Amino acid sequence: MRPTKSMHGQWSSNWAFILAATGAAVGLGNIWKFPYITGEHGGGAFVIVYLLCIAVIGIPIMMAEVMLGRRGRQNPVASLQTIAAEENKSGLWRLLGWSGVLAGFLILSYYSVIAGQAMAYIPRTFGGMFNGVTADGAHSLYQSLTADPERLLAWHTVFMVGTMVLVARGVKSGLERSVQFLMPALFLILLLLVAYASNTGEHFTRAIHFLFNPDFSKLTGKSVLVAMGHAFFSLSLGMGAIMIYGSYLPKDTSILKVSVAISIADTLVALLAGLAIFPLVFANGLEIGVGPGLIFETLPIAFGHMDGGAFFGGMFFLLLVLAAWSSAISLIEPAVTWVVENKGVSRVYASVTLGVITWLLGVLTIFSFNIGSEWKLFDKTFFDLLGYVTANIMLPLGGLFIAIFSGWVMHQHATREELGIKYNFMYQLWRFLVRWVTPVAVIIVFLNAVGLIDNIKDWLHY
Ligand code: PHE
Repeated sequence: MRPTKSMHGQWSSNWAFILAATGAAVGLGNIWKFPYITGEHGGGAFVIVYLLCIAVIGIPIMMAEVMLGRRGRQNPVASLQTIAAEENKSGLWRLLGWSGVLAGFLILSYYSVIAGQAMAYIPRTFGGMFNGVTADGAHSLYQSLTADPERLLAWHTVFMVGTMVLVARGVKSGLERSVQFLMPALFLILLLLVAYASNTGEHFTRAIHFLFNPDFSKLTGKSVLVAMGHAFFSLSLGMGAIMIYGSYLPKDTSILKVSVAISIADTLVALLAGLAIFPLVFANGLEIGVGPGLIFETLPIAFGHMDGGAFFGGMFFLLLVLAAWSSAISLIEPAVTWVVENKGVSRVYASVTLGVITWLLGVLTIFSFNIGSEWKLFDKTFFDLLGYVTANIMLPLGGLFIAIFSGWVMHQHATREELGIKYNFMYQLWRFLVRWVTPVAVIIVFLNAVGLIDNIKDWLHY
C-alpha cells in the first residue's frame, strides 16, 4: 500500500498548497534577478525566450514534480527511489533527488546573502535615508553596504536564523500561515510601483519597448541558457522543492490547474517588477547592465521622490524579504526532510545543523562583494560562479532528468493515474512535452551555449 499522506503532514486545502508553492516560487528570482539579467541580456528577445521556457518547459516540469512528490510522499531522494522501484527501474534514480538536495542547499547559501541585503534596506528606507536621493547617491549607498563584510554577515545571519526557525517548526505551522497575506500585499505594492513608474511618460514607453520588443540579434547562446535557467529558478524547478510540496498535496487536487496558476502568478510578479524598474533606469540615465545591484540602485530613487516613499519603500523591502523567506524555506526543505527521514534526528536538530553549514558557505558569497572580489575562476567571482552553475546548469539538468523519469521511466498508466487529467488530449500534450520537448530543448540550449551548434553550422558550411 502506498502512503496516502506524508509523515510530515498535509496541506489543509488546495488553496494552502497554491499559496505555499507560490510562496516558494515568488521571491528574489522575480524581483531581484529577473530585472537585472534582463538588463544584462538586452531585454525583449531574452524575455520572450524566458516566457517560452515557462510555457513549454516550466509548466510541464512543474506538473511532473508535483506528481512525483504526491506519488512518492517522502523526501525527493526516497520518493524517486520508491517510484523507480515500483517501475522496476534502477535505484540510482535517487541520485536525481540528491542533486536537487545539493542544488537547494547551494542556492540558499547565496540567496540568504542577497535577502540580507534587502533586509538591510528595510531600516534604511523606513528611516528616510533615500529622501531626495540622486542616482549617484543610491549607487554609493549600495556600495557602502556591499563593501562591508561585517554588515553583510550580520544580515545574512539574521536571515538564516529566521529561515531555519520557520523550517524547524514544520509545514503546518510554519509554511502555510506565513504566505497567506504576503502574496497579495506584495502584488499590491508592485502595482503601486508600476503606477509610479508610468508617470515617467516616454521612459515608461521605452521600458515597455525594451521588455517586449524583441531584437533577436542581441540574443546569444549564453543568453538563451540564462533565460532557460531562470525559468527553472523562478518556478523553483529542477531541485525537488516543488516535489516536496507536492508530497503534502491531497489526493484529489488537480495538478494541472495548480501548476498553471502558480506559473502565471510567478510570471506576473516578474513582469511587474520589470515594469517598475526599467522606467526608472531610463528616466535616470542609468546603465541597464549593472548586474545584481540593479534593484538596490534604482528603486530607492523612486522611494526618495514619491509621496510617502519612505513608508512604501520600507514596506516594499519588508515584503521582498518575506517573499525571499518563503522561498528560502523551500530551498532547504528537501534537505531537512531527507535528514529527518534518514538520520532519525528531530526536525529542529536537522534544521540547525543544515542552517549552520549553509550559513558558513554563504560567507564566501559575502566575500565576493568585497575582499574576495578578485578571487576569480573562469572570470567569475565565487558568487557569480555559484549562481551560474546552480541556476543554469544544475536546475536545467535536474529538470531534464525529471522529464526523462516521468516521460520515459514511469509507465503511462502511472502518470495518467497520478495526474488525473480529465481530458485525454491534455494528458497527451503533457506527455509529449516531457518526453520530447523538454529533453530536446534542454540539450540544444546546452550545446548552443557552449558554442557547439555554431561549430557544427560552420562545419556544414565548408
Ligand atoms: N523561485 C525562487 C525565486 O524566484 C528561488 C527558488 C529556486 C526557490 C529553487 C526554491 C527552489 O526566488
